Formats: sequence, structure tokens, C-alpha cells
Amino acid sequence: MPEGTNPSGSHKLNTAVPQAYYNKAAGKKRIATETGAGQWGTALAIACSFYDMECSVYMVRVSYDQKPYRKAIMNVYGANVISSPSVLTESGRKILAENPDTPGSLGIAISEAVEDAVLHDDTNYALGSVLNHVILHQTIIGQEAIKQFELIDEYPDVIIGCNGGGTNFSGMSFPFMKAKIEGRANTRFIAVEPLACPKLTQGKLCYDYSDTGKMAPISMMYTLGHTFVPSGIHAGGLRYHGDSPLLSQLYHDGYVEAVAVGQKEVFEAAVLFAKTEAILPAPESSHAICQTIKEALKCKETGEEKVILFNLSGNGYLDLGAYEQYLAGKLDDDTESVGAEIAKSIKDVPQV
Ligand SMILES: Cc1ncc(COP(=O)(O)O)c(C=O)c1O
Repeated sequence: MPEGTNPSGSHKLNTAVPQAYYNKAAGKKRIATETGAGQWGTALAIACSFYDMECSVYMVRVSYDQKPYRKAIMNVYGANVISSPSVLTESGRKILAENPDTPGSLGIAISEAVEDAVLHDDTNYALGSVLNHVILHQTIIGQEAIKQFELIDEYPDVIIGCNGGGTNFSGMSFPFMKAKIEGRANTRFIAVEPLACPKLTQGKLCYDYSDTGKMAPISMMYTLGHTFVPSGIHAGGLRYHGDSPLLSQLYHDGYVEAVAVGQKEVFEAAVLFAKTEAILPAPESSHAICQTIKEALKCKETGEEKVILFNLSGNGYLDLGAYEQYLAGKLDDDTESVGAEIAKSIKDVPQV
């Protein structure tokens, strides 16, 4: 599904527009949010400009530095973009005092945006991932895919999506999941995450905070611990310690499989895809492409024919710095200390 061909660059616009609309209807003038690589921030900046609302985006520091044009594009749509952690909030100042060189994380940026909203009466907080209503908006992807398969009289054997907070994967999968739960189809659903942030494959299912500063409520989800700070991989949208509670439950119950892939193989897959399809994929979406190629190659080996559906959740035209580094041989998998980091942060999950 080519979600990255819409003008905002990713699937995030599917939920940004209704979220801006409902916040305006609730009488708010401004929305505060976080963004990783900047795709969600861009989508919300566009949606806020549609409804004449102000928008403040706390952008994870490593992505703010890696992807300067994402900030520029959000500014074009009228948003104010702040590198996170920042000195503007109590949560940001605390993190900076403890670790001035932190690359930041989505968990930290969420704390800052929630704090901003709590302190300003005219402001609501909006989240671009994880939550049930965000998945609901994203199910447009799966519903459209069902219609498209009907037109060609096919049905997917395998459905693959990258997994950050779980919404592009779930939005595409859930409309197909009903048939699997009812025993009418035996589709495999594969969520693909980075080795640098492996919440489904190495995390724990328990209650945890969705943000580092514990401003947001706890949810039952797979988590690496709310203090986990992933290394600065270029798929900024997948650098989140937790996951959607709905997707977590389906994974726990065995309806969904998960795999983790490394940054180098992801870019190798991205370049192959670009050369064959002439579309430059986002680093996040390239995780799905990487696994799709593996599944297709397995079919080639076994001689089986399978219909594989994957979500191209975003384009990579503002991730060119990452492609430049890959082509110069400067990208690594950034996974050396991940096991030790998880062991530390998993201890910080609340005991409930
Ligand atoms: C292009 C793209 N794909 C995927 C994601 C991951 O988010 P989710 O798992 O909620 O779809 C992001 C998040 O920023 C993104 O920008």
C-alpha cells in the first residue's frame, strides 16, 4: 500500500486530519505533540494549518539534527519545532541535567508535549501512534487494500508492516485480521522492528508508562522500559520503547509474528526497492520491504506462490542524509549495547 505517495509523505495524515478537527471542535486553539523522524509532525502541521490552529512539535534531537529539512517543511505549514529534550519544560530540563548529550527519544518528547499541554489551557496534546483511536483512523489502509484485492480477485497470504507504535501495521492488518480470528483465512501477519529497538521480540508484556517523564498514563503493552533510549538509527519513527496495547495483545495471543532487522540490511533493501520501483522509501517503511524481500526469496527457494502485501508507510525524500551515509559505507546496525540497555531499563517498569 503506497501511503507515502500522499503529499504529507506518510500514512500519518490519515489520523492527523481527524485529530486536528476534533481538537478544534473541542474549542482548542493549539496542539502540542512529539515527532520522531518528523513525518507525524509534518502531517499534524498540515492538519493544523487546514483548521487554522497553532502547532508545537517537540522533535527528537537526533532526528532534528539528522533531518533538518523536516523542520523546514513543518515551519512552512506554520508549526513551531523544538529540539527535544528542550529547556522549555521541566521534563526536558531534568533529562538535560542528567545527560546533556542525550540523542533524545520519543518517550522524552512525549513527556515534553504532554507537559506543554497541561500548562496551557488553550492547548491539547495529540499522539500520532500507539493509541486505539489512531489505529481506528489508520484502518482506512486495510479497508482500501481489501477493496483493491477484490478488484484483482486475490487475497494476501502474508501481510507485512514496520512497527513503531504499531499503527501503520495495525491499520493495514486489522481489517484482514477479522477473517483470521473467525477461521476464514490463514493469513500470516508480520510486524518488523529495528534490532536497535526490539520491543516485541525482546521486550516484556506489562503495564508501563508511554513516556519517560511519567506524565502519561500506563498501558499494558510490550515495552523495553520507559527509560530506554535507543541508539540514533535513521528510522526515527521506530525508536519507541513501547507498542500499541491492541497489537501487543494480538502478538501475545499468537495472531501476529514479529521479527527484528538491522539498519544495514534495511538500507540494502531500500536501495534495491528504489532501483526496481523508482520510489525512494522511508527508512521506517524499508523495514517492511526488507522482510518482504526475505519472504519472497523463501518462495523462490520452495517454489511456492504467495501473495504478499506490505505497507509502504512513507517516502524517504527527506531522509537523503541517511541514504548518503549508507552509500558512503558509514551506517552500522547500532545494536552493540542494546541487550545491556534493555536489562537496565526494564527494571524501571512500574510494579502493579
Ligand atoms: C514513515 C513511517 N512509518 C512508520 C512509522 C511508525 O509508526 P507506526 O508504527 O505508528 O506506524 C512512522 C512514525 O513516525 C513513520 O514516519
